[in-house]
Amino acid sequence: MISADVHNARSFTPLPLVARAELGDAAAIAWLLRRLAPETIPVPENEIRCDIDRYRVVRQGDEIVATAALMPLDRNHLELRSVAVDPECGGRGLGTQLVSALQWEVLLQGRHLRCVTVNPGFFERMGFSRIPMRRVPPKPGRDDCTAGRARVAMEWRPKSYREKGNDDDQPELDSLHSNLLLQA
Ligand SMILES: CC(C)(COP(=O)(O)OP(=O)(O)OC[C@H]1O[C@@H](n2cnc3c(N)ncnc32)[C@H](O)[C@@H]1OP(=O)(O)O)[C@@H](O)C(=O)NCCC(=O)NCCS
Repeated sequence: MISADVHNARSFTPLPLVARAELGDAAAIAWLLRRLAPETIPVPENEIRCDIDRYRVVRQGDEIVATAALMPLDRNHLELRSVAVDPECGGRGLGTQLVSALQWEVLLQGRHLRCVTVNPGFFERMGFSRIPMRRVPPKPGRDDCTAGRARVAMEWRPKSYREKGNDDDQPELDSLHSNLLLQA
C-alpha cells in the first residue's frame, strides 16, 4: 500500500545536487572519510567500489565535497553511514541537504533510517531520535575507531509511521523539501 508520505513526496522534485557516486569516485570518497576520522570510520577504497551504488556524493567542480551511504539493515530499515562533509565546505548546509536527500529516498521506499554517530546533535536537528545501541548491529573491527568518543544510535521515521492514523505529515515533508532547496 502506498502511504500518504510516498504519495505526497512524489509530487515534489528533489534537486540534483546530491548525486549517485560513480566507480571513479571511490578513491576520493575513501580519502574524505580518512580525513574526517575519527568522527567518520574510514572505509577501504575496494569496499567502497563494491558498494558504489549505495554511496551518494555532492560535487563542487571536479571535487567531491560531501558523501554518505545507505546500507541495508533489515526489511524495514536502512543504515545511514559515512556521512562526511569536507571541513572547508562545512556550515553551508551541505550536510543538511545530503541527509535530507537520503531521508527522501528512504521515505519513497517506505522504510526507516538508522545510524550510529559521535555527533548526535546534528542528527537530532534532522529529526532523528536516540534508540538503544543494540538496534544497530556492530561492525566488527570498526566500532573501536572513534577514539573514545561516545557513539549514539539514532533512528529517523517519517511522522506518519510514528503516529499511525495521523494525517498531519505535511509539515515534515515541507521541512525536507525546504532543506533540499536550501542550496538552490
Ligand atoms: C556533521 C556534519 C555532517 C555537518 O555537515 P555541515 O555541512 O557542516 O552541516 P550544515 O551546514 O548542514 O549544518 C546544519 C546545522 O547543523 C549544525 N551542526 C553541524 N554539526 C553539528 C554537530 N556536530 N552537532 C550539532 N549540530 C551541528 C550546524 O551548526 C548547523 O546549524 P545552524 O543551521 O543552526 O547553523 C559535518 O560537520 C561532518 O562531516 N562532520 C564529520 C563527520 C561526522 O560527524 N559525520 C556524522 C557522523 S557519522
